[in-house]
Amino acid sequence: MNQIFITGAAGFIGSSLVDRLLGDGKTVVGWDNFSTGQRPFLTGALKNPSFKLVEGDNLDLPALTRAMKGCDFVFHLAANADVRFGTDHPDRDLQQNTIATYNVLEAMRANGIKRLGFSSTGSTYGESAVIPTPEDAPFPIQTSLYGASKVAGECLIQAYCEGFGFEGYIFRFVSILGERYTHGHVFDFYKQLLGHPDHLRVLGDGSQRKSYLYIQDCLSAMLHVTTKNLAAKAKHRVEIFNLGTAEFCQVNDSIGWICEALAINPRRDYTGGNRGWIGDNPFIFLDTKKIRSTGWASQLTIREGILRTLTWLQANPWVLENR
Ligand SMILES: NC(=O)c1ccc[n+]([C@@H]2O[C@H](COP(=O)([O-])OP(=O)(O)OC[C@H]3O[C@@H](n4cnc5c(N)ncnc54)[C@H](O)[C@@H]3O)[C@@H](O)[C@H]2O)c1
Repeated sequence: MNQIFITGAAGFIGSSLVDRLLGDGKTVVGWDNFSTGQRPFLTGALKNPSFKLVEGDNLDLPALTRAMKGCDFVFHLAANADVRFGTDHPDRDLQQNTIATYNVLEAMRANGIKRLGFSSTGSTYGESAVIPTPEDAPFPIQTSLYGASKVAGECLIQAYCEGFGFEGYIFRFVSILGERYTHGHVFDFYKQLLGHPDHLRVLGDGSQRKSYLYIQDCLSAMLHVTTKNLAAKAKHRVEIFNLGTAEFCQVNDSIGWICEALAINPRRDYTGGNRGWIGDNPFIFLDTKKIRSTGWASQLTIREGILRTLTWLQANPWVLENR
């Protein structure tokens, strides 16, 4: 990797990856339309001469193609990352996650770039009958438009690997936590509790079991695998990795840790049922044996990741206003 192109470079995960790669001495081109990206996340990067920011939209293929010129690796992270509101606007996931991924692949093809890392999701497994869920679980039934659009993106990448000799790394993340976290349950709970520390609205019954991974552990896994060139040796030139910790917790556990750290004891108002929204999976726990067999291991537990997230949100109140 000499010059790396990152879509979604101003987002939670993308901006963290920008800083990590610049810290490793790489040259990075960041691409973002700032739909959910945050300019302050790139303040440090913009002072680095090895970083260039190009503002643009993945749906603008000519501009995307121009911006990628000279790069030799693409991390495609830009997406509509919110699974919850899919049924409110059914074409958003299709456009932002599937068509956008096609555009990224076409822009790469036009520039002769063949190596790609893609942020997919554990949501692609729907409600798997196999738990912990391995990468080769039976082909899943989709339960969200977000998951469906990401599966479609994965499939396009696989076909480009086979058809055009691309080298693809597909990462199916559990929920990611940590510094620069701008969406998800810790954000929602903390924002609510700032407004009314005596009660908390919880979607579902709080018994949902979820798995989380700390942002720096997530980045370490992605960089560890891509620098080993594993996909270049794979039969179809594509490797899929679940990224998560070897544990899960209940939403209620998480609420307990957050409230303990804030020294409050709010009344919990559950909306009921074992799902928070359409497409919510009551039990997400991915089998991470494959990524761990490459020598990667997570450093933080889920509880530690949640507490670091909370500490960062407390120190960065501006982010609560910006979303
Ligand atoms: N955060 C998680 O827990 C999680 C879990 C699973 C998968 N993912 C995936 O990881 C990736 C990054 O997620 P995140 O949490 O950093 O989200 P984010 O919303 O913080 O970042 C997404 C970034 O992409 C940009 N973007 C969106 N549409 C764009 C477009 N059409 N053109 C250019 N830029 C565009 C946004 O402005 C934003 O900066 C996404 O693909 C998401 O689906 C995230």
